[in-house]
Amino acid sequence: SKSSKKGVILGQGGELHQQTVNTEETLTTQQGVPVADDQNSLRAGPRGPTLLEDQVMREKIFHFDHERIPERVVHARGYGAHGYFETYESLTDLTCADIFQRKGERTPVFVRFSTVAGNKGSADLPRDVRGFAVKFYTKEGNWDLVGNNIPVFFIQDAIKFPDLVHAAKQEPDRGFPQAQTAHDNFWDFISLTPESMNMIMWTMSDRAIPRSFRFMEGFGVHTFRFVNGGGKSTFVKFHWKPKQGLQSVVWNEALKINGADPDFHRRDLWDAITMGDYPEWELGLQVFDEIFAEKFDFDVLDATKIIPEEEIPVKVVGRLVLDRVVDNFFAETEQVAFCTQNIVPGIDHSDDPLLQGRNFSYLDTQLKRLGSPNFTHIPVNAPKCPMHHFQQDGHMAMHNPKGRANYEPNSWGKEGGPRENPVKGFISYGASVNGPKTRARSETFADHYSQARQFYISQTPIEQKHIGDALMFELSKVEREEIRERVVSHLLNIDDELAKRVARGLGLDKLPKPADAAKPTQKNLPA
Ligand code: HEM
Repeated sequence: SKSSKKGVILGQGGELHQQTVNTEETLTTQQGVPVADDQNSLRAGPRGPTLLEDQVMREKIFHFDHERIPERVVHARGYGAHGYFETYESLTDLTCADIFQRKGERTPVFVRFSTVAGNKGSADLPRDVRGFAVKFYTKEGNWDLVGNNIPVFFIQDAIKFPDLVHAAKQEPDRGFPQAQTAHDNFWDFISLTPESMNMIMWTMSDRAIPRSFRFMEGFGVHTFRFVNGGGKSTFVKFHWKPKQGLQSVVWNEALKINGADPDFHRRDLWDAITMGDYPEWELGLQVFDEIFAEKFDFDVLDATKIIPEEEIPVKVVGRLVLDRVVDNFFAETEQVAFCTQNIVPGIDHSDDPLLQGRNFSYLDTQLKRLGSPNFTHIPVNAPKCPMHHFQQDGHMAMHNPKGRANYEPNSWGKEGGPRENPVKGFISYGASVNGPKTRARSETFADHYSQARQFYISQTPIEQKHIGDALMFELSKVEREEIRERVVSHLLNIDDELAKRVARGLGLDKLPKPADAAKPTQKNLPA
């Protein structure tokens, strides 16, 4: 081709097209071959069929055809940013986690906020829980705190998660709604799952329509363990407190915003960070021991319960600052893989059955979503500390073991590659485990209403009104009367006035009987 002075070039066939101007870099194929003409396919004559040998077009279309990967099965719609975590004080007495050893130390982080139920292209402001996932790139490996903006969860046991999510997402026959919880399947499931009642109070509250990601709290939800250098363990719950304050929109605003700008939350985060108004959260801890756990009214392993801050105050130990947007949305925000199993020495799991199930689920789903066990080689997922192991091969392997040895023990001495380190290495806390194999749930998980009531009565009158309004709005979209009645039967165990107001609003002829509180799961089905 010959270039004209105006930046217009003539293709091999003599046709005119625009040239990319003012660029230093030559466009190449993925093989690095300079491209002369990116506008016209190779044809047999100017009006003839395209030739199969056109390797430039073939490569370009081939790659485009494979651009999509499966969206996350939940939390598909999200937005991420980089930043750092700064430790306020050394927590050596509580944990040997390297990140908490030195006052003032900064650790790089990547955070992804998300909605839960909506598909990747859904709007930012449905009534929904928000994900608040933090990856800390610590000097002793990656620690992921994969939390939400609500401190409790719908279910106590991970085996119910697929049902919860199926019921919450679009209905299988019609493929809608994409993002709202207001539909029969969701409320049918909820009305048959009394353990969800505390979470329902939270999700019907203003917390489920946050003003933006910057104005949300975050919670690790489960009880975790800290383990100190002496091997002593303490239970811990993690909290994120936004320095911007906690703010929500009201439902009318949410509906209008979704219509006017479905990207409202991602735009808000992008704008704040690019303008230098970096959002900040403080990390708070609720720390307690076995003695407190024993005497607490609820089970600390039950993720549908909080530990009231009046009983165990939140101690602030550091801050999180988000100060850098991603270079590329797909490479970072889409490909990031958080996993509750990613813990570091000094932090450990508890026996919470929801957490135990999550530990299995994330790795499994990410293999499917990212397509190769080597997704830890993607820069956003790779640790920023030295890393040596013998895992090898598989699709897209970028860091295979170097040298002769790819197994251990081996007798290759210094050339034998990495060795175990019984002193610095991760050692699971040696909690005693005992008991018969059983699917029976502990009695300590049985009270589904007290904390729902506590949450409701802790709200201001206007916040209580919003909860009632939300329940009426949501349930008014539910066609089957018996589902509405069943929800009201649970509300009667939470707050009489609230139940009556919702029943009136829904035009129920008479109040149903309160749900049977003594026999929790699956026992409230109509006779
Ligand atoms: C994704 C939080 C319960 C399975 C996520 C994400 C968050 C989150 C924040 C999005 C991560 C991101 O931004 O990439 C929570 C919380 C839970 C909970 C706080 C309860 C306390 C569960 C349970 C399961 C589960 C019980 C399964 C048994 C998943 C899966 C993904 C996910 C499969 C998609 C992960 C991916 O594709 O990368 N969760 N989740 N979650 N969660 Fe959960």
